Amino acid sequence: MLNINKIFYGGDYNPEQWPEAVWQEDVLLMREAGVNLVSLGIFSWAKLEPAPGQYQFDWLDRILDLLHANGIQVALATATASPPPWFSRLHPESRPVAEDGLPYKPGSRQFYCPNSVAYREAATKMACEMARRYGKHPAVTMWHINNEYGCHIHDCFCPVCTRAFQNWLREKYTSLDVINDTWGTAFWSLGISDWTEIQLPNRTTSYRNPAQVLDYRRFMNGSLLNLFKAEVDAVRTNGATQPLFTNAVFGLKELDGFEWGRYQDIAAIDIYIDPSSGVQAWKESALWHNLARSWGKGKPYLLVEQTTSQVNWRGVNTLKAPGTIRTFSYQALARGAASVMFFQWRASRSGAEKYHAGMVPHFGTDGSRIFSEVKQMGSEFARLGKLGSQQIHSRVGILFSYENIWALEIDSKPAQLEAWSVLRPWHQALIEQNIPLDFVHPEDDLNPYKVLIAPMLYQISEDQGEKLKGFVRAGGTLLITYFSGITDLNERIWLGGYPALLQDVLGIKVEEWQPFQPGESHRLSVDGETVSCTHWADLMHITSAEVLGTFTEDFYAGRPALTRNRYGAGTAYYVATLAEQDWLRHWLASICREQGIEQLVQADPDVEAGLRAGADGASSLVLVNHSNRTAHVDLLGKRGRSLLDDRAVMGNLTLDPYGVAVLELEG
Ligand code: GAL
Repeated sequence: MLNINKIFYGGDYNPEQWPEAVWQEDVLLMREAGVNLVSLGIFSWAKLEPAPGQYQFDWLDRILDLLHANGIQVALATATASPPPWFSRLHPESRPVAEDGLPYKPGSRQFYCPNSVAYREAATKMACEMARRYGKHPAVTMWHINNEYGCHIHDCFCPVCTRAFQNWLREKYTSLDVINDTWGTAFWSLGISDWTEIQLPNRTTSYRNPAQVLDYRRFMNGSLLNLFKAEVDAVRTNGATQPLFTNAVFGLKELDGFEWGRYQDIAAIDIYIDPSSGVQAWKESALWHNLARSWGKGKPYLLVEQTTSQVNWRGVNTLKAPGTIRTFSYQALARGAASVMFFQWRASRSGAEKYHAGMVPHFGTDGSRIFSEVKQMGSEFARLGKLGSQQIHSRVGILFSYENIWALEIDSKPAQLEAWSVLRPWHQALIEQNIPLDFVHPEDDLNPYKVLIAPMLYQISEDQGEKLKGFVRAGGTLLITYFSGITDLNERIWLGGYPALLQDVLGIKVEEWQPFQPGESHRLSVDGETVSCTHWADLMHITSAEVLGTFTEDFYAGRPALTRNRYGAGTAYYVATLAEQDWLRHWLASICREQGIEQLVQADPDVEAGLRAGADGASSLVLVNHSNRTAHVDLLGKRGRSLLDDRAVMGNLTLDPYGVAVLELEG
């Protein structure tokens, strides 16, 4: 268990990029900035093991001791994220192969095939050495395993992966009859008569077998997870007992964050929002924060990387405007993070990321705008100690699984679908009015929630269907949208009208659907109000539901668009289209209100609020104004003490442009 007695504040520290003379200045500046944690050694493999089996740990000893002497804690990396050039020279079979069948070349990072035995052995060896040498070092507070698994290589199409995939399938399905049946290979004469006939799903003549593509996604997620687990084992069996994590990449769809969350002591994420998207940026990054917290089942998580200003990897790299390094950092605190960290401490002088901002810019620290914001936060965070361990409790959940989005995005669907755009409207409608929410995996405990939203929960198992029915029967409110409950977990349709397993709870049956063309919109009428809609229209039959809204246009005018069905002690709504955002917001607020779930505050647009509560009963409200205007906040009866300026607050509050507040609440 991580002892969270402070807000962890700092960033990636790469001292190997600098002469040792700079290190002394680094630690002095870190102290000045209030930095208390650095991630060390992430890309140090070549420096630590310049030739196979020849280790050079002396420099790492020195910097660890120096950090410790200055009271700076370390999340020590296993140094395995980027194998050195000698590794791939000696193990050419470890080179990953791209989807077009061509091998990647060396010269960048993460250059390994996820199923390479040589890489796994070399990485675990390195992790062993690190744990053995530093497992008891007093500066080492956490282990940072590898770095951003799957960020660049989440797929590989090499011969090693082909064989590993065949073995994985053989183990999973045990017989050819079972795999042929599950994959539906009777279609297009794809019946498999020998395991070696199965290839990886790239470079096919036309559409690939969807069940095979889905299994490939599971296989690759599992291959990378096995690498992670091997390093974890290496760290643990060599005497290191500190909590460990690996930092996930925001927006990466290929790794199942919920599954990975089970093997970490604390969930961790890197988030790089695009400041050029204006106020949309905070809504986007809120999604990644909410997701990371949900991987760890609501416990505090780590924000391991963000940037102080520009990145170097977008077409045009917009800087973070004055004040917004701070607002995006407080956003992490509002969403339940225990840390605020950056890539990287000191902006590099050379290499591929030299135009990426750091906490210490090329300019130096004297008179630096960036460094003064960095320093300001350091001194503020020192006053917020307790906040880091407090948790967020939500009673609204958005049902989400990675398997579901893997299946949704496979081609040859009624329309090409993009996973995150399925979640965004619902997530945004809730966060814009400061209603706390979690992402909930369909296999998770549903009991903490009163309202569950299932946007395009395309695949569903019988057990999951039963669970959802049980949730409603016991008094829960379920909102489920079009294209949900269509298939089992292997791309096989549940027959008898969609969504077959949920017809009784919903009181409807869908027979057909009309996906809209991009940019096409239609209308529906709900409670006498005309609402525009996009994306989709389901054409359904009513069995027991009440019709609350109907389409008003085209050949399906008069057909139901929104229904409600009472089931047991609860209610299930079906939404057959994507209604406009304003309406969605109001509708969700009214449903939440009926269930006794209120907004945290009422505020001007672009004020984000988060409520965190501790085991001791204390709670804190974090407020962030993401706009460049003064914002008014109605605290809806809450009162407390503002920790940043030590004053009593009740009733209302005004936030400066890009202003923040943290209130320790009374009662
Ligand atoms: C992350 C990575 C860091 C750095 C950063 C730049 O994906 O973990 O090492 O490359 O991006 O934005």
